[in-house]
Amino acid sequence: MQTEHEFDVLIIGSGAAGLTLALKLADKAKIAVLSKGKLTSGSTWLAQGGVAAVIDALDVEKNHAKDTLTAGSHLSHNDAVNYTVEHGRESIDWLIDQGVPFSHENGQLHLTQEGGHSHRRIIHAADATGKAILQTLIDRASACESIHLFEQSMAIDLITSEKLGVPGDYCLGAYVLDSGTGEIHVFKAKQTILATGGASKTYLYTSNSDGASGDGIAMAWRAGCRVANLEFNQFHPTCLYHPQAKSFLVSEAVRGEGGRLLLPDGTPFMHKFDDRGELAPRDIVARAIDHEMKRLGADCLYLDISHRDDDFIKSHFPTIYQRCKELGIDMCNQPIPVVPAAHYTCGGVMSDIHGNTDIEGLYAIGETAFTGLHGANRLASNSLLECIVFASACATQIATKLANTFVYPDIPCWDESQVTDSDEDVIIAHNWDELRRFMWDYVGIVRTDKRLQRAKHRSDLLQGEIAEYYSNYKISKDLLELRNLALVSQLIIQSAMLRKESRGLHFTLDYPQLSAQARDTILTPINYMWPQKQ
Ligand code: FAD
Ligand code: SIN
Repeated sequence: MQTEHEFDVLIIGSGAAGLTLALKLADKAKIAVLSKGKLTSGSTWLAQGGVAAVIDALDVEKNHAKDTLTAGSHLSHNDAVNYTVEHGRESIDWLIDQGVPFSHENGQLHLTQEGGHSHRRIIHAADATGKAILQTLIDRASACESIHLFEQSMAIDLITSEKLGVPGDYCLGAYVLDSGTGEIHVFKAKQTILATGGASKTYLYTSNSDGASGDGIAMAWRAGCRVANLEFNQFHPTCLYHPQAKSFLVSEAVRGEGGRLLLPDGTPFMHKFDDRGELAPRDIVARAIDHEMKRLGADCLYLDISHRDDDFIKSHFPTIYQRCKELGIDMCNQPIPVVPAAHYTCGGVMSDIHGNTDIEGLYAIGETAFTGLHGANRLASNSLLECIVFASACATQIATKLANTFVYPDIPCWDESQVTDSDEDVIIAHNWDELRRFMWDYVGIVRTDKRLQRAKHRSDLLQGEIAEYYSNYKISKDLLELRNLALVSQLIIQSAMLRKESRGLHFTLDYPQLSAQARDTILTPINYMWPQKQ
């Protein structure tokens, strides 16, 4: 059975970006918020370190902007950077008004330190900032009559006027899989927003949860939107290395509060790579760790904060302390084994300050968007800030459009008449593993032309196989995620091939220098990548 839903605003994603937008529009519109898993299933819930903003009286916005540009290897767009830092303080105030329990010391917000920041400016809730923010936003949204929250509801593809053969270039809503029942519903809306988070699950090792499959980027691309800068995938330097520690991050704030990186024999090494040592921007630290691990043939390196008081460690990092302890690591007395892992997608769906994309009525906000803020490498804790700032700007824009837009009535149901049940689901698991492994091996922290060619070859084969599977068998959440991951991987490889220099997160042995002329690798949609019309 297929159900039709009608809303003023359809928000795909229930992270910091999606829920901020919903709350900001709650008194103006009837809103649907979708999450393909639980409401807490994205990256926001996992965020540890905090939100960057200029709060301290001795700090200035100019320096936050400068640090952002430096970390981003001068590829960030000035307007996006300035807009974000200028709206930092009010974003924190708004979160506090919602009830987020940020950490305080001596009656003031406690500000921690992270790599690339020239001042203490990270507002946090101990080491579980994302959880504190998201739980507050979920509680708020659940209490709003105008906000309708749909869990286990996965957007498959956007419905556009172009796909329906209607004149104009509008987004009219989305087809959505209810993964509980397997039914596919039509969500019609005046305005549709992609707030679907990043794509770090394209890599074998990642700090992200399983749902980070780049769905928003893939859906937008298939609908005809440009994407940009996808070669810049950020690797976080310190994920916990332990067989049972799937995707567990050890916050950069541990280094901010004095943690040192050590070789297996206990020797510090970061000063050899950068004067800022452990607090150099993330691309530099991750590359240094990768270099030392490869040089020594080591499985991991170590992060040591055991010189700080036990009470300090347990009160500032309760989550990390507890997780390490469960795995038999006492961070008060011994170094933590760490490795780099894919963490953040700096590129994404091209959007402006208000979240507008190339299609009327379609917006992108949060990690799925490319706003120009992060350049070639995101500065720590700028992402949660970006979610709040751009969701607010998007809300302002959408509010002006609601009265003059309408829900398009004649949207056909999803047609499943040509497909059958799959008898070989093993293909999905196999392709998923293969894809993530070759992305890690060939499109990871250090790249070469040859590795990218190898990755492209495999990616092309997979694309063909997945397309064939998609058109013949009934869809499932796993198949949809694989299809999106494969497409986003292909876009990452293409973007990486276009950049003939090393900059920020894109490092290639064939072009180890920064090119004199910074060049965005802005791709335009390619028709052969469009899916079959539904
Ligand atoms: P997410 O929070 O990832 O939410 C995505 C939402 O989209 C989810 O609800 C998901 O279910 C939904 N979704 C996805 N695809 C679909 C689909 N097809 N249909 C329906 N729903 C869909 N940043 C900082 O600034 N500070 C930090 O301290 C920090 N720590 C981090 C720690 C970890 C371990 C990780 C992984 C990231 C961290 N980041 C941090 C990055 C930051 O958390 C994320 O970039 C940010 O939370 C992204 O928010 P979002 O709203 O864009 O997406
Ligand atoms: C961390 O706590 O190290 C994550 C911060 C971030 O990704 O911005």
